Amino acid sequence: MIVFEDVTFSYEGSSRKALDGVSLRVEEGDFLGIIGPSGAGKSTLAYAAAGAIPHSLHGDFYGSVRVAGRDTFEVDLTELAHTVGAVFQDIDAQMVASVVEDELAFGLENFGIPRDEGLARIEKTLAQVGIADLRAREVSSLSGGQKQKVALAAVLALRPRALVLDEPTGELDPQSSRQVFELLRELNEQGVTVVVIEQKIMLLGEFARHLAVMDSGRLSFYGETPSVLSRADDLKRLGVNVPRVATFSLGLRAKSMGSGRLCTSLDEAEALVREVIGVGADALDGPVASCGNAARAVEALLSTEKEVVA
Ligand SMILES: Nc1ncnc2c1ncn2[C@@H]1O[C@H](COP(=O)(O)OP(=O)(O)OP(=O)(O)O)[C@@H](O)[C@H]1O
Ligand SMILES: [Mg+2]
Repeated sequence: MIVFEDVTFSYEGSSRKALDGVSLRVEEGDFLGIIGPSGAGKSTLAYAAAGAIPHSLHGDFYGSVRVAGRDTFEVDLTELAHTVGAVFQDIDAQMVASVVEDELAFGLENFGIPRDEGLARIEKTLAQVGIADLRAREVSSLSGGQKQKVALAAVLALRPRALVLDEPTGELDPQSSRQVFELLRELNEQGVTVVVIEQKIMLLGEFARHLAVMDSGRLSFYGETPSVLSRADDLKRLGVNVPRVATFSLGLRAKSMGSGRLCTSLDEAEALVREVIGVGADALDGPVASCGNAARAVEALLSTEKEVVA
């Protein structure tokens, strides 16, 4: 769906390579998470995937980016937007209207969607993102998190085949962030390709099928989510901390305890722990003769982890 071939890019006036020889293939229907330290080139990658580079942001560009088989140099932005819907990091720069529903209507009108269908889509998409109550609000009166949801809704209303989202939950609390990822999963299950840059690695661990790790403009690692997360030490060197539930489960794997699967969420870790200490779901809640202490210790561990995550 989106194919980067040996892409090197420097912003106009800068000699630094924001992208440095990046080759990456995002298959149709994939759910790809992108992580990496600040300045690694994640946003630049998002701009290139959505065609903002080269069409609105200029510089020295080598290599190629193809979206649905077509070189982004050869397709204009409006046409690209039919395939890739993008929400960039700087939400304010992306807002075009003063009232929420007009923000959605703007794109729909640009796409030539008839008014009745446009209104139906606005209503449906606002509800889907959980912001039906914001419909008549002034954009300037919204919080950062509300603006992020409006920007996401404006893109979803256009029903693109692929989404490129640059830190879409940056201003959201843990609960709203999870809701956004659940929505992305639902869309992904309907066939939408999802590329999401995200700092909340627990969420990516749970929802993304593949992970790409960027560092200094380069693609450092790429692979299936558990295999990338299992490189906790390499990631730590890049300033990316893998959640403790993941390293904990990898520790158990090293000791051949349990099924050896990598846990990326608390629920999975809890299930793995129950499996290792040999107690069922109910047993852990009551006194357990043989492993009561272990069970309590595990409960304590999981509850601290819950606090850390929250
Ligand atoms: N508009 C721009 N003009 C010039 N240089 C830029 C521009 N945007 C980004 N850069 C530079 O390109 C490099 C990659 O930046 P980019 O914003 O892609 O990183 P990032 O991984 O998204 O970082 P963050 O996690 O802070 O969002 C950095 O060195 C940055 O300073
Ligand atoms: Mg960025």
